[in-house]
Amino acid sequence: MPWYQNAVFYELYVRAFRDSNNDGHGDLRGLMEKLDYLQTLGVDCIWLLPIYPSPLKDDGYDIADFYDIHPDYGTLDDFKALLEAAHARGLRVIADLVLNHTSDRHPWFQAARADRNSPYRDYYVWSDSDQKYKDARIIFLDTEKSNWTWDEQAGQYYWHRFYSSQPDLNYDNPAVQEEMLNVARFWLEMGLDGFRVDAPPYLFEREGTNCENLPETHAFLKRFRAFVERINPEAVLLSEANQWPEDVRSYFGDGDEMHMNFHFPLMPRLFQALAQHDRAPIAEILARTPPLPPNCQWATFLRCHDELTLEMVAPEVRRFLWETYAPDPRMRLNLGIRRRLAPLMGNDRRKIEVLNSLLFTLPGAPTLYYGDEIGMGDDIRLPDRDGLRTPMQWDPSPNAGFTAPDVQPYAPVIDDPIFGYAQVNVAAQEAAPDSLLHTIRRMIAVRKAHPAFGGPRLEWVEAPREVAAFLRPGTEETLLSLNNLSAHPQRVTLPPGSFTGLLDNRTLRGEVTLPPYGYWWGMDDGR
Ligand code: NOJ
Repeated sequence: MPWYQNAVFYELYVRAFRDSNNDGHGDLRGLMEKLDYLQTLGVDCIWLLPIYPSPLKDDGYDIADFYDIHPDYGTLDDFKALLEAAHARGLRVIADLVLNHTSDRHPWFQAARADRNSPYRDYYVWSDSDQKYKDARIIFLDTEKSNWTWDEQAGQYYWHRFYSSQPDLNYDNPAVQEEMLNVARFWLEMGLDGFRVDAPPYLFEREGTNCENLPETHAFLKRFRAFVERINPEAVLLSEANQWPEDVRSYFGDGDEMHMNFHFPLMPRLFQALAQHDRAPIAEILARTPPLPPNCQWATFLRCHDELTLEMVAPEVRRFLWETYAPDPRMRLNLGIRRRLAPLMGNDRRKIEVLNSLLFTLPGAPTLYYGDEIGMGDDIRLPDRDGLRTPMQWDPSPNAGFTAPDVQPYAPVIDDPIFGYAQVNVAAQEAAPDSLLHTIRRMIAVRKAHPAFGGPRLEWVEAPREVAAFLRPGTEETLLSLNNLSAHPQRVTLPPGSFTGLLDNRTLRGEVTLPPYGYWWGMDDGR
């Protein structure tokens, strides 16, 4: 199986991970210091949030130069050293590639707005009126009123699907397509193992459509894939198409477009199933998920650097999830919830674990968000999504071992009585054999030792609705995952035969009672 099908991904924000030069900002050399940690955690591939020069109006998703490293993070040489050090440990590295837009500080946009006759004018989407493409929704609802912004200097409106500081590139211009292929080549030739492809649905605009998932977009992405594959046949494209399963399916093409896509509709349903003590939302969305070409894989996740998006649920479910998980209005952002996993779970270890059990045993390649493996908290006092991007908590010293104790970090280290760094940190959890960190590490190890988890097959086992019980048949083994989504013990009848525990040493047959929020993984003994 291709490496990414059974891989575990780890998403991290370089600024937040480890500061090696004590300027308050995490950097590439700092990340290098922590590669041993990631290797021991057992993840296969690190996904870096944007690392390029940027005015940081959107934490780097507003790129001002596609060919360099943000000075806060280091240099291109540091980046090469990071790739080398990661590869020496068997770790792969992918980075965000933002195809859809640039920063308004990018020299292309500066040239475009200054001169109608500049060759860069046509790199962006301009109009004399703000009435075009009315059917395209606004994504950053809390901030933007329109997808058009008037530019005084240009004397026209420009098109943007995200912040107005992120003008969309014009993919109808062949020169733009060439530029972005060149960007991909630059990083792949340096040794990067692929990209997390930011916001692919929005590359083209067509009147009378919602300007998402257009055939032209797929045609370009296929071209992009073929180009990437010629440079590095092992590279992965992990795409962020926040769409319904049948629409996301199109991003895999015939196995010739994106290798992977996040399963956005599944994610909120894991939280819904837990809150409603009912596996139905999970079962329903998986039933609605079309099979993938054999060389493709879903990326699954619980949390990421963005708000927990509720775009892919019905309005009444959205209301329910907001009321359940975001009772304070400050916890809400756009159509989502800006909180981390542990606070969402009320810091209940059992709930955190059972959600991770689902993440690691359902189809798809699990993606962890930095800090969630130790149950880090968030800071809702910070604006936008900043509260989810606070410094990693390494130890109980002032500034949590992220930076020197006397340095002011780019954002305050979490310091509340429950999630503060004095309680929640890597060092403490390394030392405690029953910590969340050790549990997650064990889950990762077991998951990787059993490739059937990376395969596509899932068969539900009859059980009370409070339990998500399923088999994962593979070519050489059949695995069993039992997950109690309720606060009460639940009895489950196992499929015929006996099962050997993967996380414990019990062998089970017949009936088993799962404790509240309990879970159990087994392997069919074939007896
Ligand atoms: C999706 C990214 O995940 C998000 O953080 C960003 O703001 C938008 N794309 C715009 O690039």
